[in-house]
Amino acid sequence: MEQTLVLIKPDGVQRGLIGEITARLERRGLKLIAAKFMQVSPELAEAHYAIHKGKPFYEGLIRYITSSPVMAMIWEGPEAIAAVRQTMGATKPTEAAPGSVRHDFALEVGRNLTHASDSPETAFQEISLWFKPEEIISWERSTDPWLFGKN
Ligand code: RTP
Ligand code: MG
Repeated sequence: MEQTLVLIKPDGVQRGLIGEITARLERRGLKLIAAKFMQVSPELAEAHYAIHKGKPFYEGLIRYITSSPVMAMIWEGPEAIAAVRQTMGATKPTEAAPGSVRHDFALEVGRNLTHASDSPETAFQEISLWFKPEEIISWERSTDPWLFGKN
């Protein structure tokens, strides 16, 4: 079972889209195992986006993610990393598939509403950066066999 870090970025929070975005992940069958509403510090933002340091959009990206609170979550499920990125859509909203969050609610790459881990390695690193082990809840959901079951 995979786990992935999801952030609803400041634009998603300011626009009142926390419920809409989490509803899509819930409805798809992914399982929420951690969540916190938080103001991102410059230190956390720089650690999270270290891979983008030096790129032209880096400074603006740090300003964006620290500009207002975010909703940070961990979602679990089979192929959760790919599933969440598919639900969010391509980075550039005008290239995101119809029906995806970024297609349905965004226009600009710099206001693309969400972050989602892009590989098992980054998911592991990002989860340990954003959450303490005791903040992650392993729980049985009565619908798990109907969503995660294989024949
Ligand atoms: P994310 O990390 O936020 O899930 O998005 P992603 O994998 O689809 O995109 P990534 O390449 O990791 O870029 C991280 C975030 O940086 C901003 N960005 N701006 N050309 C630009 O102005 C530009 N390119 C990327 C976006 O907010 C993107 O989500
Ligand atoms: Mg990324």
